[in-house]
Amino acid sequence: MTGTSGDLKGGKKFLLAPSILDADQLSLGEEIRKVKNELDWVHIDVMDGHFVPNLSYGPGLISSIRSGFPDMFIDVHLMVEPSERFVGMFAEERPDILTVQAEATNHIHRVLQSIKDAGIRPGIAINPGTPVSVAETVLHMADLVLILTVNPGFGAQKFLPEAAAKLKELVRFRAVHSLGFLIEVDGGIRADNAGFLVSTGCDVLVAGSAIFRGGDPALAAAEIRKSALGG
Ligand code: DX5
Ligand code: ZN
Repeated sequence: MTGTSGDLKGGKKFLLAPSILDADQLSLGEEIRKVKNELDWVHIDVMDGHFVPNLSYGPGLISSIRSGFPDMFIDVHLMVEPSERFVGMFAEERPDILTVQAEATNHIHRVLQSIKDAGIRPGIAINPGTPVSVAETVLHMADLVLILTVNPGFGAQKFLPEAAAKLKELVRFRAVHSLGFLIEVDGGIRADNAGFLVSTGCDVLVAGSAIFRGGDPALAAAEIRKSALGG
């Protein structure tokens, strides 16, 4: 196996990456602190109002999280177009993973290479309408493949069950080609589908509304964790 997935998982069955998109935006530090003991990574959704119909964060937030939580593993998901215009400014903030959308550039190979050249682990994300085959020629360059299980732009949408076929396809592709990328699922993840997704082969679960829209983020994260382990 090539790549760094083994190291990143540290022997765990799966990793939990809360997305702060649905957290209380006035108190992001406090919100992260509430789930700190339950999370493996923090997932930051960057939206440009162009690639997706919503606006969210800039590089300054990564910098603030880095100072507030020096040991935090920061997983940045760029939903911005064209990717090449934004990669440099985010790479400067030294996220642990920087993921770009396969659909947001004509030059995915160059973009992934530029992230690697900056010393950051690159990830590639694919929308629900995009086949895995679009990314196959560059999967050897990626440390992470993010399968969007909703159409990106907003939290609290319903999980699209057809994404399961893509997950299986990627698990197979990775084994056949002895690659080492982690597979992350993002969108509509909650306690009732976490077990199935982990047992089907995903490595990283992103969850936003299921964690931050209830009363107790730590409890909600623990419930997802429990169901993911039992699945
Ligand atoms: C989709 C984002 C997700 C999403 C997760 O645009 O990339 O990270 O907000 O939120 P939930 O878990 O509420 O679907
Ligand atoms: Zn995301």
